Amino acid sequence: MRDLLNKLGKPLEVKLDSAVLAQSQAPTTQGSPKAGRDAKHDSAHKHVAGAAQYIDDRFPHAGQLYGCVGKSPHAHARVISMNLDKVRAAPGVLCVITADDIPGHLDIGPVFPGDMLLVKDKVEFVGQPLFAVAAESHAAARRAVKLAEVEYEVLPATLTIEDALQQQLFVRPPHQMRLGEPETALANAPNRLRGDIEVGGQEHFYLEGQISLAIPEEDGGMHIFASSQHPSEVQKLVAEVLDVPFNRITVDVRRMGGGFGGKETQAAPWACLAAVLARKSGRPVKFRLSRSDDMEMTGKRHHFHNHFDVGFDDEGRILGADITVNGLCGYSPDLSDAIVDRAMFHSDNAYFLANANITGNRCKTHTVSNTAFRGFGGPQGMMAAEAMIEAIARRVGKDPVEIRLLNYYREDHERYDFKQSGYDVTPYHQKVEQNLIPLMTRKLMADADYHARKAAIRAFNASSPVLKKGLALTPVKFGISFTVQHLNQAGALIHIYTDGSIHLNHGGTEMGQGLYTKVAQIVAQEFQVDVDNIVVSAARTDKVPNTSPTAASSGTDLNGKAAQNAAQTIKGRLIEFACEQYQVTPEQVYFADNNVHVGEKAFPFAEFIQQAYMGRVSLSATGFYKTPKIHYDRDTASGRPFFYFANGVAASEVVVDTLTGEYKVLRADILHDVGKSLNPAIDIGQIEGGFIQGMGWLTTEEVCWDANGRLLSNSPANYKIPTLGDLPEVLNVELLPNEPNREETIYHSKAVGEPPFMLAISVWCALKDAISSLTDYRIDPPLHTPSTPEKVLAAVEATLSAAKGE
Ligand code: MTE
Ligand code: HPA
Ligand code: MOS
Repeated sequence: MRDLLNKLGKPLEVKLDSAVLAQSQAPTTQGSPKAGRDAKHDSAHKHVAGAAQYIDDRFPHAGQLYGCVGKSPHAHARVISMNLDKVRAAPGVLCVITADDIPGHLDIGPVFPGDMLLVKDKVEFVGQPLFAVAAESHAAARRAVKLAEVEYEVLPATLTIEDALQQQLFVRPPHQMRLGEPETALANAPNRLRGDIEVGGQEHFYLEGQISLAIPEEDGGMHIFASSQHPSEVQKLVAEVLDVPFNRITVDVRRMGGGFGGKETQAAPWACLAAVLARKSGRPVKFRLSRSDDMEMTGKRHHFHNHFDVGFDDEGRILGADITVNGLCGYSPDLSDAIVDRAMFHSDNAYFLANANITGNRCKTHTVSNTAFRGFGGPQGMMAAEAMIEAIARRVGKDPVEIRLLNYYREDHERYDFKQSGYDVTPYHQKVEQNLIPLMTRKLMADADYHARKAAIRAFNASSPVLKKGLALTPVKFGISFTVQHLNQAGALIHIYTDGSIHLNHGGTEMGQGLYTKVAQIVAQEFQVDVDNIVVSAARTDKVPNTSPTAASSGTDLNGKAAQNAAQTIKGRLIEFACEQYQVTPEQVYFADNNVHVGEKAFPFAEFIQQAYMGRVSLSATGFYKTPKIHYDRDTASGRPFFYFANGVAASEVVVDTLTGEYKVLRADILHDVGKSLNPAIDIGQIEGGFIQGMGWLTTEEVCWDANGRLLSNSPANYKIPTLGDLPEVLNVELLPNEPNREETIYHSKAVGEPPFMLAISVWCALKDAISSLTDYRIDPPLHTPSTPEKVLAAVEATLSAAKGE
């Protein structure tokens, strides 16, 4: 952290390798790099000064109303009757709507049907919206909804993965992936282990909660300010709910105070409700959820229960695996099909399974519908692989890192002489190319002094009866691309005004990750102007249409390329104009350091733009990009779903108090692969943030429900996210140098948003290492997540009693 602040103070130049630049830049661009170096987040100063405008900061419109919903107190019940007379009569209430007041679609399911905007006759989770009101103040709306008189017939509720599996209750059908002959491999393996791992869910805890503002316009239209990762989907759903064509609805997203996946689909209902209330009342309506409503009424990361059956040789080499991942989806499909798929795609993590059967179940429960959250199921799937590695290591009596090295996918430099071919094929038949993980593991082991510290820890543990230390190194291999092919596209729009200033729009949304800054750097690079000459304005559906969600870490990959495409179109026109005007050839025109060079002459960028305008050159262009090479056939569960993989390795050290279960992360060392970084300061920020958020997921953040399906962890007082005090005292982050993405991505960079989240699995493994030391590393501690102090203590006791029973 301190490192990062220092770096922000004095910009650090990271030189782009000239070969890569030559390949990826327009030949007409020379001069100093704008991309590939630190540039501070375009809103950093506004964030800290309180000047960055969020929706709740907007001045209220005249006559503006405030929305709130009445919600179900039952997990599963039939609605017998609903009397809203007292709600309508409550002070300040101007408008009340039920399912019968929705002009168009009632079902706003994003991919599959199943999400009712307001419930008609059956509730399926505690907190499900039944009706909505608009009142003169937020407080009046909240008071009013409590006055509803609703009669229910309570039905039995399914609340756990086990219950759903037993009843075969799924939101979508199960899916399988298969490689080789897993049954035979398992039957013939000299060693075989079965195990399971519970992986807890996670509350998004974005600082800015869900919020939308709907302003009625002419002809049934609506202008929506939303805090959404997916403006085009909000536009579509609002239009369908209001029963108007999409072109009547404009959605505007300047920024979110964090999204983390929680605003990919689940920002839409509040925009839809605001729009219906605005239509009915004829007034602007703002819908902002209180923190407790937000926690209760919006989906979280899926809780998973994973099982494995693995066969391996005496050295610990995996010969075959049968893995089942069971995701707790809640009451509706939402994005769960793709999320459980991504869990399956990552249940190998970085390991060659040789023969594999991967099954994914989408369990239906009477709880809120779980949704996207940084990693999108990937982290939960990866936990199956790492649990398996840990179990094998204890069984064969080796340091888990040895088992990891032994089972990694083959390095593509052929550093090892593998007798068996096909050491690089995943269970979904994609070849792993440019596999950097073995190299990165060895580098981090050297840089972080792994062996010496391991020895020191063993010595410490031998003489410390209560406090036990642990150290673990784990890899991350994360597939980049939406696994749904059509989402891998993006658009951009660039205007250059006559003073030479540049206005940029693209389909991506800013949620703190620095997307706007990176795309501005790319456009600056193309035109060779300073970044502050470019303004990236709010993502708006009337500027760039039909956009994909900003998700799957693909924001920069997709929108950066689209913006580059738009910039190159305008540059092409400028070059043509220069050739006509000054009788030069295209090779004699180039852009460098705020100038346009034409033969022997050089014009300041703004002056040349002025000339082009006078010469009637169009200074506005759209850009488009679609990811090449990707395809996936879900029927055969094979193909190339990912354009490439982002890689990382982390080594974490912890100390555990084995009498209380309390622990602390002492140190973490991270080596992460972002290809050729577009902005090292922002990338390191994403890595630090992702790691800490992942640490929270696996350690202190516990989503708790009572026996009736009511959420108990519904406020910051009973849900613990990491704070400054939880930060490891030593946190070293390095970007892997000299390994540009071999694929043709924007300047050969790699996506960074989600992959670092999973580096935190090293903390969970370090906790296991510390506990395992109690039995001289013979027993694999049964430690489920979140590994709260209570769970650590339980694992300590279970590990000790397993050792006694040996
Ligand atoms: N970083 C910040 N500060 N805030 C966020 O909400 N979301 C994460 C990641 N990093 C998030 C973040 C998630 S879930 C994704 S998918 C990516 O950012 C999305 O942005 P990108 O594709 O531009 O990286
Ligand atoms: N990642 C994130 N969001 C998504 C995906 C994905 O793979 N598919 C659909 N929405
Ligand atoms: Mo991120 S979970 O793909 O929004």
